[in-house]
Amino acid sequence: MKLFLDSADLDEIRTAVRWGVVDGVTTNPSLYARVGGSYDDVLREICRLTSGPVSAEVVADDVDGMLDEGRHFAKLAPNIVVKVAMSENGLEAISRFAEEGIRTNCTLIFSANQGLLAAKAGASLLSPFVGRLDDINEEGMNVIRELADIVNLHELDSEVLAASIRHPRHVTDAALAGAHVATLPFKVLRQMIHHPLTDSGIAQFKADWAQARAEAAAKG
Ligand code: G3P
Repeated sequence: MKLFLDSADLDEIRTAVRWGVVDGVTTNPSLYARVGGSYDDVLREICRLTSGPVSAEVVADDVDGMLDEGRHFAKLAPNIVVKVAMSENGLEAISRFAEEGIRTNCTLIFSANQGLLAAKAGASLLSPFVGRLDDINEEGMNVIRELADIVNLHELDSEVLAASIRHPRHVTDAALAGAHVATLPFKVLRQMIHHPLTDSGIAQFKADWAQARAEAAAKG
């Protein structure tokens, strides 16, 4: 299973890349709004930091606008994937991008049927939003499970990317549900590293080591 970082923050991305666990990055207009500057410059730098897929989201509502924005992003770096929201125009744009050889990530998916349509249109990545479904008292992980089953059963040429991940348990459940990728906020990635017993175990080993050294020194 691949892990992407769901962030446009270059410091976070640099840190996570150093940990050796980042297979790609997803950005969206909200994440970009938190860092500001030039979206193009941010995307170019992220693409320099990782050779994995980097999602850049279009904001136009009309097909021509989506195509213009997506073609522009695709020229920034070879690993750019154009992110397009699920809609009638979005499907048309995804299908046109596929004809042009531009990879796409269909975002804002909330049902297996939407994911199936995005796969049919030619999206390489299908992004169901787990946390936002949980927020409205639905079981977000069911969409991941159903869509992963559909992709595998019918050998569709798309990967299921679990998005809107809010906590480490979501990552475990997405992996078990068959997601090919999960995209994580930096905070969740960091939470996955730590465990209270790991942290207290390290502290205990250090203390025992220091005591043994002190006793050895005292004996001369
Ligand atoms: O990748 C999409 C994700 O960023 C949305 O997450 O927490 O805003 O629902 P959230």
